[in-house]
Amino acid sequence: MATTTAPTFTLHKNVTSFLKTPRKMLIGGEWVDSVSGKTFETFNPATGEVLGRVAEGDRADIDQAVKAARKAFESGPWPEMSPSQRGRLIWKLADLLEHNLDELAELETLDNGKPLFFSRMVDVPSTADLFRYMAGWASKIEGNTIPLSARGGQYFAYSLREPIGVVGQIIPWNFPLMMAAWKLGPALAVGCTLVLKPAEQTPLSALRLGELAIEAGFPPGVINIVPGFGETAGAALAAHPDVDKIAFTGSTEVGKLILQAASGNLKKVSLELGGKSPNIVFQDAELKTAIPGSANAIFFNQGQCCTAGSRLFVHKTIFDEVVEGVGKAARKLRVGPGLDPNTNLGPLVSQEQLDRVCGYLESGIKDGAKAIVGGQKGAGSGYFVEPTVLVDVKPEMKVYREEIFGPVVTAVPFSDPEEVLPSANSTVYGLAAAVWTRDISKAHRLANGLRAGTVWVNCYDVFDAAAPFGGFKMSGIGRELGEYALELYTEVKTVYVNLG
Ligand code: NAI
Ligand code: MG
Repeated sequence: MATTTAPTFTLHKNVTSFLKTPRKMLIGGEWVDSVSGKTFETFNPATGEVLGRVAEGDRADIDQAVKAARKAFESGPWPEMSPSQRGRLIWKLADLLEHNLDELAELETLDNGKPLFFSRMVDVPSTADLFRYMAGWASKIEGNTIPLSARGGQYFAYSLREPIGVVGQIIPWNFPLMMAAWKLGPALAVGCTLVLKPAEQTPLSALRLGELAIEAGFPPGVINIVPGFGETAGAALAAHPDVDKIAFTGSTEVGKLILQAASGNLKKVSLELGGKSPNIVFQDAELKTAIPGSANAIFFNQGQCCTAGSRLFVHKTIFDEVVEGVGKAARKLRVGPGLDPNTNLGPLVSQEQLDRVCGYLESGIKDGAKAIVGGQKGAGSGYFVEPTVLVDVKPEMKVYREEIFGPVVTAVPFSDPEEVLPSANSTVYGLAAAVWTRDISKAHRLANGLRAGTVWVNCYDVFDAAAPFGGFKMSGIGRELGEYALELYTEVKTVYVNLG
């Protein structure tokens, strides 16, 4: 592992001015201070220094935002708009995102820490793609006509799909802008109004997105953005009696709290939670793609991916070769500030995450695992951690069982497919999995047997706005992206008409 030096980087002038004054929250089309007047700091993970200040929303602000969303749902231009007009607004937002790509990418890297290359190539463009995909759906939300066998009369029956109402959306910090888009896109396409609570670690890009949404022409109150902490603003949103649906991405632990909070008014719930995804390399795999693919599976986004390929299973005959290959890839990664063009691996998002990941490294090594590369906190004042490959791992170890959410992979050998499948499935999670093999039957057999919402064959972390994404088991409830995402935000209504 090499480290890069602090960059001399001239920020986009809009970024500099955006960071200069405390950012307000967006309620009812206005940028306002919090009711309490409180603000909180957001940090630059590359240095640990304060990056900016943001209005701190709490229960009272959430309440105002929900009122604004309710008003915009029931009256004014939004419910009157044709589907095609809604679609156009969403498309316009995508155009504005692309138009402001440089600025948004810098903001994302400053707030989250990720290398600028990825903010520019992945986060911002895929956010625009998502909005364009969902813009198309706005005019294609259809019901059915239903042939009845009901006795005693003649009826014409049809179903309608209507927006579910006011939606609360709580998102994490690992892909701040993209997670906002995954939530906003389908909700807006079907005609909902919403209150978004970004993660306290990374509120900035969502607030900039709010500005662009106003510029695109979304009516006041359709999109409300209330930054704040989870235990206060987030909990108030999840429990609010006038919110019809809550969508959450984050830890499994908080997912359970959301489910409880939602029970008060039985709001609909969708959850996208943690993972401990198996990545399985067979002896017949093409190693020149499987090795770098397995390295990317864990090191992409500093390992802060719900889909991270954190349990690497390798056939015993090629175990040393693959593990050494992944270790070599880890050693080659240049760890440094995200704004440095030489950086491949940025800092983790926060001191809290750094402590958490370092705690796992210590526990793994104490339990007898061996780090063939990495294993420690990185150098410097930022939240850096070394990319790490652990071997000599036993199934009962915490590093093998729990989501680490950092650049740490455990590598375990296996001898046949019948052995590896139960091991791969032996987790409370079921978000994603991957198989590397040239044997097409084996690939499909494994794809069938793996209890996970996404299975990649000879690839990893491929996403598309059109393809459903979500978890089995404790990885979540519901599917985002694709047509499935629309179901999260619509109610089905059946209408019977007496033809007699
Ligand atoms: P978290 O689940 O606490 O935070 C995610 C979001 O939920 C944030 O917006 C936060 O403000 C909000 N939140 C927190 N407590 C809440 C509550 N009681 N009610 C309503 N909203 C609440 O995740 P955290 O603490 O940032 O990270 C802890 C671990 O969670 C990570 O180490 C990782 O394992 C996992 N995680 C998984 C993510 C995923 O993409 N599935 C994303 C982020 C974290
Ligand atoms: Mg938390």
